[in-house]
Amino acid sequence: MRTIGVTGASGGVGSRVVRELLDRPQPPAVVALARRPEALPATEARRADYDDPASLRSAFAGLDTLVFISSDGVVETMCRHHEHVVAAAIDVGVPHVVYTSIVDIAPDSRFYYSPGHQDTETWLRASGVACCFARTSIFADFFVETWLAPARATGTLAVNAGAGEMSLVTRDDTAAALAAVAADGLEGVIDVTGPEALTGADVAAIAGVEYQPLADEEYRRRLAAEGNPGWLVDAFSSMFRSVVEGRFAVVSDDVARLTGRRPQPFAEFLRDEIARS
Ligand SMILES: NC(=O)c1ccc[n+]([C@@H]2O[C@H](COP(=O)([O-])OP(=O)(O)OC[C@H]3O[C@@H](n4cnc5c(N)ncnc54)[C@H](OP(=O)(O)O)[C@@H]3O)[C@@H](O)[C@H]2O)c1
Repeated sequence: MRTIGVTGASGGVGSRVVRELLDRPQPPAVVALARRPEALPATEARRADYDDPASLRSAFAGLDTLVFISSDGVVETMCRHHEHVVAAAIDVGVPHVVYTSIVDIAPDSRFYYSPGHQDTETWLRASGVACCFARTSIFADFFVETWLAPARATGTLAVNAGAGEMSLVTRDDTAAALAAVAADGLEGVIDVTGPEALTGADVAAIAGVEYQPLADEEYRRRLAAEGNPGWLVDAFSSMFRSVVEGRFAVVSDDVARLTGRRPQPFAEFLRDEIARS
């Protein structure tokens, strides 16, 4: 039986990947990897702290596949974490890695996290380990939590997304695709996107709020005035700049092909989210 480890198993995507793998008709052995494994529901869990290389080497022992959920926060920290994960996977001889990259991966992107994902893909490619780069679009859940929930309170979605399109994809669909790739040991590149590309105006209309496209500097000024740290101002404003440039507009059939079900349209997802809240 194959053994699949999932990092970030306490998080939104990682926890769903663990569940998807365990729910398969012939589940592999699943090892949940997290900083605080004691907080995870009953399944084999090991401590794997991206900032503790020794913990990563122990945690990765015996894995056939590692689902590597990207780190977050300040980009220099993310890159240090990723270097540790790749080095540990190489040291231990993990044969297959599935990495959550980003669709906005072109070298000329100005998105805050794009160079970190480019570097991580480069390190993994150079390692000789069999890899699948699962390049994700913007998570629908993340968009709702971060921008639409406040917009529904104020009545206005005000971001610097212009008329750019986003192929919002749910964490559920992302996790299902990652689990399929991991379970089947697939290699290559997949684009993990929703079924359609929507503008800020489309998303606002679906949510029943006004859309106010902002200039980059105005959005940055508002984020800073709300007390957000500089890196977050850079991350959010550069993401929407990439949206304007069409870098998050890709719509792929990879999720449907891998999971056997169509990815959830945003309007349906939002309706379900509102019903749940
Ligand atoms: N495409 C998008 O729209 C989008 C949006 C946001 C983020 N992302 C990226 O996608 C990833 C997964 O998204 P998500 O929604 O699952 O994020 P999430 O719910 O915040 O989960 C992040 C996971 O990373 C873990 N982590 C953080 N620092 C760690 C460390 N030092 N060592 C080990 N684990 C650590 C967290 O563990 P703890 O529970 O211990 O904190 C958590 O399990 C994010 O980490 C980020 O790279 C993508």
